[in-house]
Amino acid sequence: MGKGYGYGKVILFNEHFVVYGIPAIASAIDKKTIAEVKKCHGREFIIHDNREETPGYKKEKLEQQKESIRLIKKAMGIDECIEIWLSGDLRAASGVGASAASCAAIARAIADEFGMKFSDEEINEFAYEGEKAYHGNPSGIDNTCATFGGLVWYEKGKKMELLKIEKPVEIVMGDTGIVANTKKAVEGVRERREKYKEKYDKIFEEAKQLVYEAREALLSMKLDRVGELMNKNHELLQEIEVSSPELDFLVSVARKAGAYGAKMTGGGLGGYMVALTPGKELQEKVAKAIEKEGYYALRTRIGI
Ligand code: PMV
Repeated sequence: MGKGYGYGKVILFNEHFVVYGIPAIASAIDKKTIAEVKKCHGREFIIHDNREETPGYKKEKLEQQKESIRLIKKAMGIDECIEIWLSGDLRAASGVGASAASCAAIARAIADEFGMKFSDEEINEFAYEGEKAYHGNPSGIDNTCATFGGLVWYEKGKKMELLKIEKPVEIVMGDTGIVANTKKAVEGVRERREKYKEKYDKIFEEAKQLVYEAREALLSMKLDRVGELMNKNHELLQEIEVSSPELDFLVSVARKAGAYGAKMTGGGLGGYMVALTPGKELQEKVAKAIEKEGYYALRTRIGI
């Protein structure tokens, strides 16, 4: 039996903008997907998905998941039938890098089962291939976090850079419970960007300037500034129409409960939001406020 893992992630700055070569900042979180793989007889693969989930997620993503496994097997040159078990403490949902975490975990588990030695860079390539089934045209940020872990400065097509911060910082991620389609969200931005070129160019330029300031604020642990910039980033994401009423609601609940900043995270149109909540006490306060409204809150940390 081969075994592998992949981290969940949170995008702190510039999801969507990252698809167009603008830098983004993301972090692995301390939740993982575990894959176990065993050679078997018969069909191309059998999958047992035992991950906890946002209701409906696994059913909605099943066809993309199957295609993703085909792409990973092809990239790794595996023709044999494999049986796959997915588990771990990363709840399968939109916006938390669940698909990328599973791709990295599956690639590692296949390598382990077939006795193949690959570097993390190569595993990352295979996970990227698998992500194509979920995203269409992935920027690569999710699989990079899923494979390597850490706090990541990411520019499409360039080698990612690990950012070191003084100590991990608490965050809360609130789940709207809506299973979102990242591919659709990404396509929507592409269409509107072509249609409203001037407006979008301006927003994209703002996103670019903001992320350099966010990097400096994070590295010098100016967390109140990081929070303000997350709020600003949320506005830009609203302007390109990838937020949703539920995301906006949870963002305002978190801010009212004292979060330093809050924004949607990932593909948007549902899925997760993230709030910056340094310290266990504030984290608990914000998580409770989200739960009081009837939503799932994930307590985790960035910069692990
Ligand atoms: O929805 P998620 O968590 O898979 O994140 C998607 C991030 C995007 O920037 C919207 C797309 C991409 O490929 O980077």
